[in-house]
Amino acid sequence: MINILIVGSGGREHAFAWKIKQSSKVKHIFIAPGNAGTSLLGTNIPVGVSDFEGLKNAVLENEIDLVLVGPEVPLCEGLHDFFSTDSSLKNILFVGPYQLGAQLEGSKDFAKEFMMRHQIPTAKYLAVTSENLSGGLDFLKTMKAPYVLKADGLAAGKGVLILNHLQEAESSLKEMLDGQFGAASSKVVVEEFLSGIECSVFAITDGKDYRILPVAKDYKRIGEGDSGLNTGGMGAISPVPFADEVFMEKVENQIIRPTVEGLQKDQIPYNGFLFFGLINSGGQPMVIEYNVRMGDPETEAVMLRIQSDLVDLLIGAAEGTLAEKTLAIDPRTAVAVMLVSGGYPGPYEKGKRISGLEKVENSIVFHAGTAQKGGSVCTDGGRVIAISSYGESMGEALSCSYKNAKLIGFEGVYFRKDLGFDL
Ligand code: AMP
Ligand code: GLY
Repeated sequence: MINILIVGSGGREHAFAWKIKQSSKVKHIFIAPGNAGTSLLGTNIPVGVSDFEGLKNAVLENEIDLVLVGPEVPLCEGLHDFFSTDSSLKNILFVGPYQLGAQLEGSKDFAKEFMMRHQIPTAKYLAVTSENLSGGLDFLKTMKAPYVLKADGLAAGKGVLILNHLQEAESSLKEMLDGQFGAASSKVVVEEFLSGIECSVFAITDGKDYRILPVAKDYKRIGEGDSGLNTGGMGAISPVPFADEVFMEKVENQIIRPTVEGLQKDQIPYNGFLFFGLINSGGQPMVIEYNVRMGDPETEAVMLRIQSDLVDLLIGAAEGTLAEKTLAIDPRTAVAVMLVSGGYPGPYEKGKRISGLEKVENSIVFHAGTAQKGGSVCTDGGRVIAISSYGESMGEALSCSYKNAKLIGFEGVYFRKDLGFDL
């Protein structure tokens, strides 16, 4: 029996805690910093995800055996490296890549170079800095509209611009290099536009072997019909009908295996999750981006479909024994519907009292942005609650989540009612 620390505070981390709680291998779950939902499954520790010393103390005080990191920021900041070089922590099992491997998400240019080196299908591109601005402008002229510009570094999901006119693209490229996204856009990846429908493929790996998790689709736009501003994610559906056996065979042979083998060839030690943001370009999967963690809100659907003991898989990834582990998947559909604060993804208010949580039946409530205030659960973020459900079909799962979503109230609550419209 082991103690586990989950690092993070969103719906993803609540869904991890829910799945981990079902394991016979777990003594106690700790979550840093967690939210009102995770406190029902374990002990929240008030330490931020980038507070390495605070996390170290939490691990030592609570006799943690395994650390699972949810978000990308501490991985890109080197939390795993910090653990492996500290003599009191180096024997703690750690799920998540080192800083070097985390560059697959932390630097778009690093990821593109990696894909080029290992012949992994992705859009044509050029990395541009202020030193080769004129090369960047020339490259734009060789492309057709729309134009895709990506800040090289982490920009909390906001660093990608898609522009319809060459002049706009030229001026945006200059603005980005001038610091529109701070240091994250001191380098910009200019990329060919790919059209097609997107999906999220996840694998867990120990750097040698991997297991492919259920594939999901997330809905990033705030408005119905995929309109309006980008959000952190308004919901997710798993499985994805177009990601059929033929498509997934291409994904494994052309993308997943070459990625894991590429990490080995490049001597990049890696363990944890790999998230392949893919676009289906006429039946050919192309990589839009790598993430070095699970997706949110995809995790709130994907965890429902993992039948095997997640802790066993986490231990396998951390110890390098994934070859011995099995992954069984529930054939049913799982969906997550996100309830968000009024105004999100623009400015919104926090601290609204949430009612009706106890009325939910046949769905699982994952807290994304909540906090306990006095005796009640209040909103504490843009994305507030995910309502996850199983169904024999997508329609059945969605209607269960929507039925329960209507029972939950807080001032300004909004959710999309058209998830799956494109499938
Ligand atoms: P990223 O942060 O790289 O996932 O990009 C954010 C979103 O921009 C993606 O989910 C896509 O919808 C879109 N996108 C990124 N790159 C491309 C591309 N090369 N072609 C078309 N759409 C793209
Ligand atoms: N759902 C997309 C992400 O987690 O980045």
